[in-house]
Amino acid sequence: MTDIIKVPLMAIPQDLVCATDYARYAKKHLPTDVYEYVVGGGADEITLQRNRQKLDEILILPSVLQDCTQGGTQTTVLGQRFRHPLMLAPVAFQQLAHPQAELATAEAADVVETGMMVSTLATRSLEDIAAKTAQPKWFQLYFQQDKAFTLSLVRRAELAGYSALVVTVDAPLHGIRNRAQRAGFVLPDGVEAVNLKDRPPLPSKSFDPSQSIVFQGMMSEAPTWETFRWLKQQTDLPIVLKGILSPADALRAQDMGLAGVVVSNHGGRTLDCMPSSIEMLPLVREAVGPDFAVLYDGAIERGTDTFKALALGADLVCIGRPQFYALAVAGALGVAHLLRVMREELEVTMSLAGTPTINSITSDALRYSLV
Ligand code: FNR
Ligand code: LAC
Repeated sequence: MTDIIKVPLMAIPQDLVCATDYARYAKKHLPTDVYEYVVGGGADEITLQRNRQKLDEILILPSVLQDCTQGGTQTTVLGQRFRHPLMLAPVAFQQLAHPQAELATAEAADVVETGMMVSTLATRSLEDIAAKTAQPKWFQLYFQQDKAFTLSLVRRAELAGYSALVVTVDAPLHGIRNRAQRAGFVLPDGVEAVNLKDRPPLPSKSFDPSQSIVFQGMMSEAPTWETFRWLKQQTDLPIVLKGILSPADALRAQDMGLAGVVVSNHGGRTLDCMPSSIEMLPLVREAVGPDFAVLYDGAIERGTDTFKALALGADLVCIGRPQFYALAVAGALGVAHLLRVMREELEVTMSLAGTPTINSITSDALRYSLV
């Protein structure tokens, strides 16, 4: 624990001690429509709920009396060193949570030595965000219709010191976001995806009655596997696909020479009725073997959640919504506190489970509940 965080921690309410406490507090700090947009998922939220449920069904079976004095959480992924296996998932529009937006999140990541993925839809420039943290930072790319513009984002990320591209492939269009719709969520004036400011205007399209606004409209420019052959030729940055659930898709990414995958269902925010991320994680790991980078996200709120994902094959475990809640409640300080708590909870879990290093955490430490 560094002094930088220790002193102002006094500003955090005494009864705010874990990630779910931030979720509870955030409700009071955010306008209702923003809260509903963030907390919600797609359609009936079956996938969103399943992410939590399936993690809870997994139990941890400790091995007692292990010597933990040489324990540690450091790990290496894509040749990059991480102080601990937690990373911030890309979360868009952070100015909705706090005026310092992504800059505050990056500052916190730097202090708590946590890697960060920065969204294409950030509300601060990707260069300014990068300048705030010396920790590994990966740029999350949403393909834009204009290929040259997409490439300009890649070039900017390279120049700004991002060390990987995380290309999100599960959201070529928004899911059915009924909860956000009911709450009337729209981006308020003054909150925008500033990195897309110079994006050329979309060509206007007209549809004849036999065409669909979804297939021939929204999906007409969506990336395909072919697009990744092209992207790979354009950059030396490692390319990680985010939003992979199917082992066959993971294998295809590996066969194409991509660098890794994030097993994710976008926090249940895109297609509803997908399996939970944790159900698919061991199957993806099994398909790609031990040496391919596999990251995880979905409902990570506790050190025990992180532990379970590590045990089922994740190299790094990403935190989505809780970072937004912590930012809303207490800015950079809140995110730093959240990350420190998550890190300490993981260390406590590893010690109590008798698996004091990342490599020693395997599925041998898990049990599945009988209910
Ligand atoms: C997201 N997520 C997301 N993913 C992405 O690739 N690019 C993005 O810009 C965003 N934006 C975004 C905004 C908000 C408000 C949320 C809640 C989520 C998805 C995110 O990276 C992650 O996959 C999920 O949040 C899953 O993690 P949790 O929330 O279950 O921890
Ligand atoms: C979301 C988009 C921004 O999940 O990825 O809201």
